Amino acid sequence: MATLYPKEIVTPLLSNTIIGRFQKKLLMFERKDHFYKKAKKEGLASRAAYKILEIEKKFKIWKKGNSILDLGSAPGGWLQILSQEVGPHGFITGIDRSPLKIAPPQNVDFIQKELFDPTLTFDRQFDSILSDLSPDLSGIRFRDTYRSYELAVRVWELAKLFLKKKGNLVIKVFPGEEMELLKKEMKKAFDRLVTFIPEATRKTSSEVYLVAIGFRGQ
Ligand SMILES: C[S@@+](CC[C@H](N)C(=O)[O-])C[C@H]1O[C@@H](n2cnc3c(N)ncnc32)[C@H](O)[C@@H]1O
Repeated sequence: MATLYPKEIVTPLLSNTIIGRFQKKLLMFERKDHFYKKAKKEGLASRAAYKILEIEKKFKIWKKGNSILDLGSAPGGWLQILSQEVGPHGFITGIDRSPLKIAPPQNVDFIQKELFDPTLTFDRQFDSILSDLSPDLSGIRFRDTYRSYELAVRVWELAKLFLKKKGNLVIKVFPGEEMELLKKEMKKAFDRLVTFIPEATRKTSSEVYLVAIGFRGQ
């Protein structure tokens, strides 16, 4: 009788089989989908740029002249959009452990740093904090979900220190039991909290964005 293993264990084992190779091809095909091609044509560093535009259209996160902290900035698609949106009187600080693939626009200060670096600090508070951080994917769902949750919690900790009162917070996270705990805590600190999936999100991705409006402080 065949032994049944959980999907999380079988998936990595399949990576060298015909099915595994098919899965990889499907992923590569998805990567070159509509939003990928559009971003390339429009000179944007990533298809992710369209996600933040959708979030802005629906929730009105920022205004001209705002200061924004962008966590998980590389390769730089969100920075390109944010730079234009806040204009020359606005200011963006970007953080990522990987380098950007664009030259940072004039109103952007990019710091290449690990998010969990204990020396990470800022000399100001921000009108909005946005996070598109994603862990390196292992393909093991519960592990990836937990790592995404750890990143989200770190973002929430930074927000408690560096988000202005009435400010807005956007955090990408992979849904799971832990995310519900985080949502519960965030709900208490904001006027409104919505879980949002932009159209530009890959159909194979389980990521969602927690969009929190109107920080009341801790
Ligand atoms: C989906 S990408 C962000 C895309 C970006 N918003 C854009 O528009 O180009 C996720 C980023 O999170 C970063 N990241 C993941 N874990 C991190 C960590 N612990 N510290 C710093 N950056 C991290 C990765 O290096 C990666 O560049």
